[in-house]
Amino acid sequence: MTNTLDTLDTVVHSIALACPTGTSRTYELRAADPDTPLPTFEAGAHIDVHLGPTLIRQYSLLNSPQDSDRYLICVRRDDTGRGGSTAMHRDLTVGQRLRVSTPRNLFPLLPAERYVLVAGGIGITPLLSMAEELARRGADFALHHYATAAEAPLLERLQDAPFTDRVHLHDSGNGDSIRTGLPTDLSAPNPTALVYICGPDGFMRHVTEAATAAGWQPDQLHLERFAPAAREPDPATDGEFHVRVASTGDSYPVPAEMTIAEVLTANGVEVELSCEQGMCGACLTPVLAGEPDHRDEVQTDDERAANTHITICCSRARSAELVLGL
Ligand code: FES
Repeated sequence: MTNTLDTLDTVVHSIALACPTGTSRTYELRAADPDTPLPTFEAGAHIDVHLGPTLIRQYSLLNSPQDSDRYLICVRRDDTGRGGSTAMHRDLTVGQRLRVSTPRNLFPLLPAERYVLVAGGIGITPLLSMAEELARRGADFALHHYATAAEAPLLERLQDAPFTDRVHLHDSGNGDSIRTGLPTDLSAPNPTALVYICGPDGFMRHVTEAATAAGWQPDQLHLERFAPAAREPDPATDGEFHVRVASTGDSYPVPAEMTIAEVLTANGVEVELSCEQGMCGACLTPVLAGEPDHRDEVQTDDERAANTHITICCSRARSAELVLGL
């Protein structure tokens, strides 16, 4: 099976605390081969970090796209999570080689006269790169960052940035929470502006609902997720369908309570998996016939519409059968 993202080897050049409590750290990655430059990236892009054969995690690049010699990521340790951030904090050391994907951007800056960037906690990372880029362009923007003061990641970077006059820090541990009201930049809709939101799912849902209630249009609101969006049950696609392996012709039923990957694995078909929630692309599999019901966050809208690949860890089928290029 083909993972559509190319990879390259980097070296951990430096590790630094990114907040007073140390729950967030920055990792500076440089090319392992100094003669091979790092691929360029756009503001909003992320990389997959390969922490092990089946442990791949996505992290947004937070530095300026003008930085041609390094990728900078920030990782908040979550010991109740699925192990990626804990492994980063526990295992990575300066000088260690680290395989990463080439940068991929599912959260691009689109043309607008004004930008409002709204971050919750570690969601600051892609928005910081955007702020760097917008400042370089001389664009009109404001950056709102909601976090508790002791845990706020990258606070020093924000305070020292050349665009710090555009930064609005909200101490949500001290009553200045998104739930107590929208920032003034969002209190009334601006038809010439775009809004970029990144943070925990509940934070983004709240900003989206409040901004929509204030009159902002859905196509003005752009979100970057760390986890799949909660979805309503869909009787049309939640039920059973069949999956056929093209190389053998074998067909298997996929019951409502199992994923395609689980069915294939149970039948001895080797598949590649990592995040198992539609976030990394490790399980992207060619579709030769049938119509997928895409439930991933890794493909672009155009890629989903093309129906050439499916994330078999979470996506299902709109047709009675899918034929997979396995
Ligand atoms: S395993 Fe990550 S998208 Fe399927």
